[in-house]
Amino acid sequence: MNSLNVIVLAAGKGTRMHSDRPKVLHKLAGRALLQHVLETTSQLQPSKVCVVYGHGGEAVPEAMAEFDATFVLQMPQLGTGHAVQQALPELTGDTTSLVLYGDVPLIQAATLLPMLTASHALSLLTLHLEYPAGYGRIVRDAAGKVTSIVEEKDATPEQRAIKEVNTGILSAPTRLLRHWLAELKNDNAQGEYYLTDIVAMAVAQGVEVRTVHPKHSWEVLGVNSKQQLAELERLWQREQVHHLLAQGVTLADPARLDVRGKLTCGRDVEIDVGCIFEGEVTLGDRVHVGAYTLIRAASIAADTHVAPFSLIDQAEVGSNCFIGPYARLRPGSKLHDGVHIGNFVEIKNSEIAANSKANHLSYIGDSTVGSRVNIGAGTITCNYDGANKHRTVIGDDAFIGSDTQLVAPVTVGRGATIGAGSTITRDTPDGELTLSRSKQTTITGWKRPQKGK
Ligand code: UD1
Ligand code: MG
Repeated sequence: MNSLNVIVLAAGKGTRMHSDRPKVLHKLAGRALLQHVLETTSQLQPSKVCVVYGHGGEAVPEAMAEFDATFVLQMPQLGTGHAVQQALPELTGDTTSLVLYGDVPLIQAATLLPMLTASHALSLLTLHLEYPAGYGRIVRDAAGKVTSIVEEKDATPEQRAIKEVNTGILSAPTRLLRHWLAELKNDNAQGEYYLTDIVAMAVAQGVEVRTVHPKHSWEVLGVNSKQQLAELERLWQREQVHHLLAQGVTLADPARLDVRGKLTCGRDVEIDVGCIFEGEVTLGDRVHVGAYTLIRAASIAADTHVAPFSLIDQAEVGSNCFIGPYARLRPGSKLHDGVHIGNFVEIKNSEIAANSKANHLSYIGDSTVGSRVNIGAGTITCNYDGANKHRTVIGDDAFIGSDTQLVAPVTVGRGATIGAGSTITRDTPDGELTLSRSKQTTITGWKRPQKGK
């Protein structure tokens, strides 16, 4: 597969999306349609990737900046053949060029690889459809050899009855592609330069035309409307659920789970309804994820239990932890084994050592917390002075009484106890009780004001 060129057509307007955003930047499973195509493309290890864009201006190249691709503007859009013509100056070498569509996001490398094996031939990805309306039809002769592709608008009634359709994805020897594209004309029903006209040219020159079929029909479905986008999202989710179930993951309801990235699970993992997984997520053996939990780019080690309505974002969670319900782990949170984080507790950019607990209503930010620490309800690290962030360090075996404010930078000693309701502004010694609290007084005989008559 040396010197493979991939051309991704992405200039179409996407009128039926009814959106100001270019069609290929709409998201499926959390990633732009074009991003899916470019990620699959990179699995083919091409020497050149060329994206033909048009509508939406620079938004498309800007959104795809992470990819090693060349962006070529097609303005105006005069058809698929015209689109590929714009890419020709960018193509390298003399071997194969593969044409993909930016709005056909689920095409898989396993389907494309067989299209790249015959470097002398024109390979078309085709499919048989019960209802072929809207697609170009594959015309074959009596011997079954492909003779041309005819667009629906140019087709005779007999040709319209053909059920083998053109998915639009094709590969061709780059040298021949250049030659054919130079010959294209737009004397057809739509006045466009059809890429599909190269098929009849290949046949006339005696170049072999092969057809390859997708492994799954959903791979070649395109997105032209929000309806189709939603349908494709469901198809893709069903596909991912299928893999998870096959691996032995228990899903309370396979229809109520969304994987927007890559979810890797150990054995006997259980996931309740309504959970969303984004980016790369790893769940260890016997992890249980409670209902309506969102986990993004995080790893959770074995036997940890996440209770419902939790949000775990770019965090690392050890084994045997209890998280939630209603817990929020923000980026840079690292919890060691046996940590308990309870309801309405927010952890940010903090490391919490083994067996420590913050069970209720706390904010722990920019902190280093030792082992076996108990953080009482309502404890807050005051890490931000309006300009800078400061660290809080809590030693092993410390006990932080409820409703404590730890004004960073501050260190609580090992085994130290902080009395409830304290505002701690200076470091506290190991093993001692520290508290800051005004003395309780009682005014005897005090009477509550009464409402006037
Ligand atoms: C095309 C094929 C048709 C096939 C169908 C599959 C041609 C002439 N027809 O038809 O045989 O069955 O796809 O969906 O190729 N694009 C550009 N610039 C343009 C025109 C299109 O970049 O000037 C891009 C679009 O953004 C889209 C793709 O090319 O990603 C296909 O364009 P579309 O207009 O959907 O082609 P169809 O007419 O549906
Ligand atoms: Mg189309």
